[in-house]
Amino acid sequence: MRNIIAILVSALAVFIYACEKEQPEVPPVYDPSPYSVNLRGFPDPGFPANNQPTAAGVQLGRMLFYEKSLSKDGSMSCADCHRQQYGFSDTLKYSIGVEKLPGKRHSMALINLAWHKEGLFWDGRSLHARDQALKPIQDPLEMNEKLENVISKLQSQKLYRDQFVRAFGSDTITAEKIGLAIEQFEFVMVSNNSKFDQWKRGETTLTDSEERGRQLFFTEFDPSGVKKGAECFHCHATFNFTNSEYMNNGLDAAADQSDPGRMNVTGSQWDMAMFKVPTLRNVAVTAPYMHDGRFSTLEEVIDHYNTGVKNSPTVDFLMQYNLQPGGLRLTTQDKQDLVAFLKTLTDTEFLSNPAFKSPF
Ligand code: HEC
Ligand code: HEC
Repeated sequence: MRNIIAILVSALAVFIYACEKEQPEVPPVYDPSPYSVNLRGFPDPGFPANNQPTAAGVQLGRMLFYEKSLSKDGSMSCADCHRQQYGFSDTLKYSIGVEKLPGKRHSMALINLAWHKEGLFWDGRSLHARDQALKPIQDPLEMNEKLENVISKLQSQKLYRDQFVRAFGSDTITAEKIGLAIEQFEFVMVSNNSKFDQWKRGETTLTDSEERGRQLFFTEFDPSGVKKGAECFHCHATFNFTNSEYMNNGLDAAADQSDPGRMNVTGSQWDMAMFKVPTLRNVAVTAPYMHDGRFSTLEEVIDHYNTGVKNSPTVDFLMQYNLQPGGLRLTTQDKQDLVAFLKTLTDTEFLSNPAFKSPF
């Protein structure tokens, strides 16, 4: 009996080996099939005509986003500072790069970037995601690697040569194609299924506290005190909770402003300490907050807007009431309600979507 089993097993092994041998390896082919994004009522982002997301391109971008050999010592990928569970941000005040040195700003959440048309980074110094993607690779405080080295590391791997063929029709790897693929991946990372979105679509209801917070968020401050409003919505505007502008929300008095922000890009003193108005989507999981990660909780952020705003030549006009004694006059209950509302912007589907996880 044992002999028969042994014979059968070896016959099977020979058979499998023969089958494998007979199938010649299929060479990869260019595959322009589009990647489909479920917009769920969001406006069409208008993907760039010269870089429409394809399934193969997005997959390549995803591989590159999680690829540690993009860094000098192979220890770090984009995803180390942009972690999915934290809305593709990280939990450090200042991110640490490959040289174990801290950067100068807090990592940004990567959410709905397809709609960010007015620049990337806290100061907007990169206009397009495809160019932005090459900066952290070369930044000495981040991945600190030369593009030519990245290209030769990827070029030596069949996995990448094949995927570049599927995505771009050629296995010649270039920096430009790396940028385009990462841009495709970033542009399909869409968060549109938070409790707030579901409420907007009539699929769920808000609790009393969330609804009061929503009213506060979307109501102007009324100096007469008749209406209550926290004046958040002019800056954190649109479905994406940002007006896509660079503004000063009064973090520091002029003498304490250590980061020139937007002024670095424009050279204008009127842009001193102006920073990109960040989206508030998934904000409950992207702590710490602000360009320098100075606040650890949403409660601290609300306290800042309520009574902590500092005056300076570029502080936004909308902060005029925050600056007055008593500020926005928010009660403990109001603050709790605002936080409850901000938590409705958490999209657990986005934060755990397998399509955005590491492909390795
Ligand atoms: C060492 C940590 C670190 C690494 C690694 C890193 N980033 Fe970042 N990322 C940051 C920080 C910090 C900022 C904000 C920097 C600034 O404004 O000056 C940022 C900003 C961004 C932004 C701008 C988002 C916006 O809303 O404007 C994008 C996009 C981005 N990173 C993508 C990437 C990609 C793609 C990679 C990999 C190629 C990467 N990052 C690697 C820390 C990192
Ligand atoms: C004048 C425009 C303006 C108004 C009004 C405003 N914000 Fe902001 N908000 C900003 C800017 C600009 C930043 C980024 C500042 C920085 O990092 O230096 C920001 C950052 C934040 C952050 C941190 C997000 C992150 O990812 O780090 C939160 C949370 C926030 N605002 C909530 C609110 C709430 C709640 C209100 C209403 C009480 C409000 N904002 C009113 C402009 C504004």
